[in-house]
Amino acid sequence: MTTTSRREALKLFAAAGGVAALTPAAFARAADPVFLDYAAASADDPWTLIVRDAPSQGFDGQVELINGRLPDGFAGTLYRNGPGRFSRQDWRYRHWFDGDGFLQSWQIGQDGINHRGRFIQTDKWQTEEAAGRFILPALGSVPPNPGGLSGPDDMNVANTSVLLLGDELLALWEGGSAWSIDPDTLDSRGARRWGQGLDGVPFSAHPKREPGSGIIWNFGQDASSERLVLWKIAPDGTLLNAGLVNDVPGGMIHDFVITERSLVFLVGSYRFQQMRLPFIESFQFDPEAPMRAIAVDKDDWSVRRSWDLPPGFLFHFGGAWEETDGTIRLDAALSQDARFAMAGAYDVMRGHAETDTDAQSRHMQVTLSPGGRSRIEALGDAYIEFPQIDPRQTGLRRRETWHVAWDADQPRGANRIERRNLHTGARDGFDHGAHVYVEEPLFVPAAEDAAEGEGWIVHTALNALAQRTELHLFNAQQLADGPVASWRLPYACPFGFHGCWRSA
Ligand SMILES: [Fe+2]
Repeated sequence: MTTTSRREALKLFAAAGGVAALTPAAFARAADPVFLDYAAASADDPWTLIVRDAPSQGFDGQVELINGRLPDGFAGTLYRNGPGRFSRQDWRYRHWFDGDGFLQSWQIGQDGINHRGRFIQTDKWQTEEAAGRFILPALGSVPPNPGGLSGPDDMNVANTSVLLLGDELLALWEGGSAWSIDPDTLDSRGARRWGQGLDGVPFSAHPKREPGSGIIWNFGQDASSERLVLWKIAPDGTLLNAGLVNDVPGGMIHDFVITERSLVFLVGSYRFQQMRLPFIESFQFDPEAPMRAIAVDKDDWSVRRSWDLPPGFLFHFGGAWEETDGTIRLDAALSQDARFAMAGAYDVMRGHAETDTDAQSRHMQVTLSPGGRSRIEALGDAYIEFPQIDPRQTGLRRRETWHVAWDADQPRGANRIERRNLHTGARDGFDHGAHVYVEEPLFVPAAEDAAEGEGWIVHTALNALAQRTELHLFNAQQLADGPVASWRLPYACPFGFHGCWRSA
């Protein structure tokens, strides 16, 4: 790791993100086949609401209780972030991950639940909203007659996740800066500045908060130069350290895990090949490339261990812990290849989503042992995504993971919420029915001192029959009993990717 010229190096890192070096060619406007396909599909298929444009002014609504009752004392705010604008002037993005960040809050109290949705006022959003058309190249699309890029934040859509940091909410992307948001109003405050030389340096969407210290760890990736930047942040938002780790294979890294000693990365076989626009086409799945696990020592970023695993791909981890002999155990949603990140996400934008189930992810436990030995074991047959844990167990030995799940006959998305005990294999779950498409389940502890796993699961979902977005609350230990309460909005929102919870 470079320490003497750290800030200069990081500045170069931001500039070298690659995209700034390319100027897209203009091309002639024609009837857009993706826009036309989506318009046709959405005419008779309410599933397509998950990728329908949210209105520019956002949403403000009151939810209706449709089942059960809010438990006494349960109060707080659920934040959710995801893409919310996919088309302008009859031209539609090609890739699901391109859409502009649309932030939602569900303020839950004993006197009701207020829902709010707002577009994040990124530089890109403001430029394109004023122009009435897409201008900037996006991760997976280049719009007609595009403009050039001066740096990664020009195309920042801040659409992936959220992090509460002191009195601010950060909307997270992974190719550039976090975006600072007022957690009460959802008003945007601009790109988060960490210090000189750090503007635009990638800040990924899955930071991890260490229990006890409250320290937040994160990373950013420049796959083209096989480097990571590591971020260490105090609970009040002060930057404690940032620096580079070199020689990390250029496989797309979306998430990571921490243990008490280590920061653990799993580099999949979806590898950077050559800089192209749209940027995602710079990556290709290499079936010969082993996945590489890398554990970086938290106290000395120059110390690392690594393991080679069979080829594969992942977006998300559950969690990890480290035994006293250095063995690391982690669980993740692993797939055989990256077809979902490519063809699957393109299909979603056309309104076609019967994704090839061979490309979908299963719950796997990975053991990384001293001496470079490793083992991967399947934790069940279902397809799963969005694994979540009791956040108080982040980096610590724990029992359980919650996730969404679906079977091969439901290839359009998850309709179940499940909990799995990693040690006994015991499973608990609830099936909402084929017409309900569920989003990420978040674990909310019953109280700070409650026992591990004692708490609530809160998740949103699209009810395709009602054509409305719903909110469901479960006892985290009794999913099979069904929701303790469910609510419904008077409208449908586009799907989000990730969220966080702020207790009242
Ligand atoms: Fe993610």
